[in-house]
Amino acid sequence: MSRNFRLRPLSGDGDSSREESRLIDRRDFLRYSFNTSAGGITLLSLGSIGFASLLMGQADSAGGDTAVRFWVPTGAEDTVWYGERHLEPMSYDAFVQAAISSNTGMAGAQGVWSGMPVNVVYVPHEENKNSAAATNKPRFQYLDGYSSGGKYVGSGFEVDEKAEYSALSIHDNLIIVFSRCPHLCCIPGWQLVANDYTNDSWEAGGTESGGNKLFCICHSSRFDPTAIEKNSMGRGTPFNYIGIRKVGGPSPNGMPLVPFVLNGDMIEALPDFVDWYAYCA
Ligand code: FES
Repeated sequence: MSRNFRLRPLSGDGDSSREESRLIDRRDFLRYSFNTSAGGITLLSLGSIGFASLLMGQADSAGGDTAVRFWVPTGAEDTVWYGERHLEPMSYDAFVQAAISSNTGMAGAQGVWSGMPVNVVYVPHEENKNSAAATNKPRFQYLDGYSSGGKYVGSGFEVDEKAEYSALSIHDNLIIVFSRCPHLCCIPGWQLVANDYTNDSWEAGGTESGGNKLFCICHSSRFDPTAIEKNSMGRGTPFNYIGIRKVGGPSPNGMPLVPFVLNGDMIEALPDFVDWYAYCA
């Protein structure tokens, strides 16, 4: 008989109905967890610095770990703002504080969740969304998505318009991206290398202009973490997904979003769309 397991308790808000909604069926989580042998991701092609040693997070004894943890690539300990936090659970406040010293008010980090590489990116959307789009005033942009063949797939607005994607509705100025490049499955990084695509700048439009792109070091694909679109993935079994836009390089499309909740100050991911993350398995 399956049993539910409880996410880490909320920080004393005493709202029992809220806690109840956070129960996840353990059988499902085990099925979905990429730590299981059936679903294990094989990291054959590792792009970002130091990910060659990536063993990823381990499921806890209860069958799953919803925490998103910092992953500090080997050699980047002294260069990234989260360099001393390797494998610590990510707190929301850490991103807010890191964003303060940024030109754009953005902050991103490499992470790992349930055995999968992710990028977590903070964008000052709420602060900027009502002002005119201007250089270094980033906000999330909902864009139309087209397949690599030019066929219209759908709109990023579907996160608010379609119930099936409601878990991906943008909230708390944050997104989590499943970080496997749809080209050949390397792991795009956030500001791990220095070039025009990764510098701390932002331009509107979801184009190649501006920096703060997620950059895949293998063959230089770039992804705009503020450009939310619906697209289709042709790798493996074809499927549609909501994700961030590929703005340059050989990747045929962008990378899918991972839904999350804030559990107090801690960032925890949800397994609603795990089928989307199997394209490099
Ligand atoms: S694997 Fe990312 S660009 Fe080739």
